[in-house]
Amino acid sequence: MAQPERSYNKKRTRCQECNAIWRFAQGVALSLRCFWYGGPREIRGGCQCVYESRAKPGGANSYEKDLGFAPLDFLKRRLANQHGVAWLDLCCGTGRAVIEAAETWCGSGLDGSVRLAGVDLVPMFGSIRAGRDCMDLAAASVERWETTERFDLITCVHGLHYIGDKLGLIQKASGWLKDGGLMMMHVDYRNMRIRGRASSAGQIGKDLRRAGFRYVPWRHLLICNGRNRHPLLYRYLGADDRAGPNYTGQAAIESYYERTGSRPALYVRG
Ligand SMILES: C[S@@+](CC[C@H](N)C(=O)[O-])C[C@H]1O[C@@H](n2cnc3c(N)ncnc32)[C@H](O)[C@@H]1O
Repeated sequence: MAQPERSYNKKRTRCQECNAIWRFAQGVALSLRCFWYGGPREIRGGCQCVYESRAKPGGANSYEKDLGFAPLDFLKRRLANQHGVAWLDLCCGTGRAVIEAAETWCGSGLDGSVRLAGVDLVPMFGSIRAGRDCMDLAAASVERWETTERFDLITCVHGLHYIGDKLGLIQKASGWLKDGGLMMMHVDYRNMRIRGRASSAGQIGKDLRRAGFRYVPWRHLLICNGRNRHPLLYRYLGADDRAGPNYTGQAAIESYYERTGSRPALYVRG
């Protein structure tokens, strides 16, 4: 994966792999939009043009790069205004992101005010030091995993690609957000298909937007601010695990749906 140059004084820089032009101002990404032949497009060759605009050098984990957002900073801001904060990482892999967060938080006398949780199908979790009671890593399929807890932050970093019922998980997880909480999930709309349609991504994107979600296409990132109580009007039909690689370069699962309605009720934020 190529990375744009890190000479921050430049206004524009070009990814050497996919030729995407990135624009900067004073070292901060002015636009994280990827311009390819004049417009945002899927980038060829699996290039993700990772630009560490917000990641701290040698930072705690790669999530800041992948999300363009610092989870710990977000949680700290929330904690300044409320008693406790909670972060759930779905498809957490080794759980490194939340384990590192636990190292940062739990040893600093804030154990009681922070809750960190990760879920992954494969229990290849990193080791957790004794006394890190503020965190839990669960070995389970996120499709079946349930919780009654509510979270300030829910992430699913490159995990949804491997899930059968992607919309079902999006819907379910967005209901686990606290008021003012934030959910961020990588998703490639091309891995979701509506029965009977040659092209489904546009419709699915439109329905998600109507339901209150926001999509950042150049990051393939679906964002939900606040609890979403609006039902997505889709019925899951099944999945195909032979879909081949998506933008990540890894084989993804294609999910099939039937659209069961076209006029969602008013979206209500939690
Ligand atoms: C590409 S890795 C991403 C891991 C982590 N989020 C990261 O960015 O380092 C995808 C993860 O999804 C997990 N996964 C796949 N299907 C899952 C499922 N049904 N339930 C929970 N985790 C799943 C895999 O075990 C794997 O750890």
